[in-house]
Amino acid sequence: MKRSISILLATLCALTLFASCKGDKYGYKLKGGQVVYNTPARPADQQSMLGFACDPIENVRVAFVGLGMRGMEAVRRYAYIDGATVVAICDLLPERVAKAQDALKKSGMPVAAEYSGEDGWMELCQSDDIDLVYLAVPWQLHTKIAVYAMEHGKHVAVEVPAATSIKECWDLVNTSERTRRHCMMLENCCYDYFELTCLNMAQQGLFGEIVHGEGAYCHNLDPFWDYYQGDWRMIYNRDHKGDVYPTHGIGPVCQAMNIHRGDKMDVLVAMDTDAFRGQDIADKRYGEGEYNYANGDNTCTLIRTHNGKTILVEHSTVTPRPYSRMYQLMGTEGLANKYPNKGIAIGMETPDSLGIDDLDAEKYCTPAEYKVIMETYQHPITRAGGLAEKAKEVGGHGGMDFVMDFRLIYCLNNGLPLDQDVYDAAEWSCLVELTEVSIRNGSKPVVMPDFTRGEWNKLDGLKLAE
Ligand SMILES: NC(=O)c1ccc[n+]([C@@H]2O[C@H](COP(=O)([O-])OP(=O)(O)OC[C@H]3O[C@@H](n4cnc5c(N)ncnc54)[C@H](O)[C@@H]3O)[C@@H](O)[C@H]2O)c1
Repeated sequence: MKRSISILLATLCALTLFASCKGDKYGYKLKGGQVVYNTPARPADQQSMLGFACDPIENVRVAFVGLGMRGMEAVRRYAYIDGATVVAICDLLPERVAKAQDALKKSGMPVAAEYSGEDGWMELCQSDDIDLVYLAVPWQLHTKIAVYAMEHGKHVAVEVPAATSIKECWDLVNTSERTRRHCMMLENCCYDYFELTCLNMAQQGLFGEIVHGEGAYCHNLDPFWDYYQGDWRMIYNRDHKGDVYPTHGIGPVCQAMNIHRGDKMDVLVAMDTDAFRGQDIADKRYGEGEYNYANGDNTCTLIRTHNGKTILVEHSTVTPRPYSRMYQLMGTEGLANKYPNKGIAIGMETPDSLGIDDLDAEKYCTPAEYKVIMETYQHPITRAGGLAEKAKEVGGHGGMDFVMDFRLIYCLNNGLPLDQDVYDAAEWSCLVELTEVSIRNGSKPVVMPDFTRGEWNKLDGLKLAE
């Protein structure tokens, strides 16, 4: 019975993707062997959010929606941030709200307003003493709540991926442009030390012209599947193909490649394996043959940019393997690589003569050189005020989560443009649908929508405001 429901769901999902796309203003057409997405004109009551900054907010009043594994950790971190107060907490489950309130009390923070139940977030968004709504709910709810919060005058910080469809990506862009509210996706991997240092090196030209980048989310989620509230993550993977969690991989690479700040992603092609282990997991979880598990064990996506660069992104969450986000920047003058071993290769001299079998001639920098490079090119945003050291103390994926939270509040306190704008959120999240559509169309190339509507070349490179 469930198996036929599962086949029906998969067919509906494919049909919905197909139907939503044909004739839809945010959809696609099949043209010359490619899937070509529309970029609809900007409605008259909207303005670009490129470089947007709002008036400084001296004390940012933050409301958390979603107090599961991720949200509770975020609440804990906010006790260490000056310039922000947690004024409201919300979860489907009242006991999680109570737990978060206890955590606030223990860390000496004021009592926050409490909301719970399926629609508690609506009431929260209607409150007029909130500046920022911080979302750590299941993917299926991100855009719905983010849009509602912006409609009610709140800035929004939303966990990854911010959206799960092209329609949702446009909903975020359109709402942010119309309401003039920030919509920042909480892509924390952009703030890891290695990535930030490499971004700084890239911006100073140490790698020459970056021609290729790689990123991934390869994380065996076996220990975690049971803990997602209501099974939301397994259900999403069970019912969808494609790179359903692309932003950790693609975010830091897009920043180094100045995507929508001088370059843009034009075309992608995605290909997946069958669901070998995924099906085993589903069989064990739901009963043998109850569901056809949709997502391939590994999904690879290749993207070509307007300026002739390439990006490789991978997703795998069901096979036993060490964690990896790949993270590689390849330039005309050097290379940075993070997984499995961090390495920088710059200033390499090609030997005059080399035996054909000598595959070890070109080397990464020595550990001593690496240390000097990492210290010399530490990104100014983590050098300022000893942020790197404080982040290590507070923690959160080794500190990167705290750097992200700190930067968000710092920019709002000082009326600065945020490090990631709504176009980043849409561009990085749009892979969720585009990879599924490519795969379901026999890995056809997909011409990607331009969420800036032709303004991708207006900003000259990424600048993190100081
Ligand atoms: N950036 C990162 O490194 C990172 C790491 C983990 C998770 N995440 C993201 O954080 C989000 C949450 O993931 P998680 O691991 O905490 O999952 P989770 O299942 O532990 O938490 C989700 C929470 O949302 C609550 N919720 C569900 N429906 C709700 C509703 N209608 N109103 C209010 N609350 C509701 C659930 O009760 C639960 O407490 C996801 O988007 C995930 O991708 C990001």
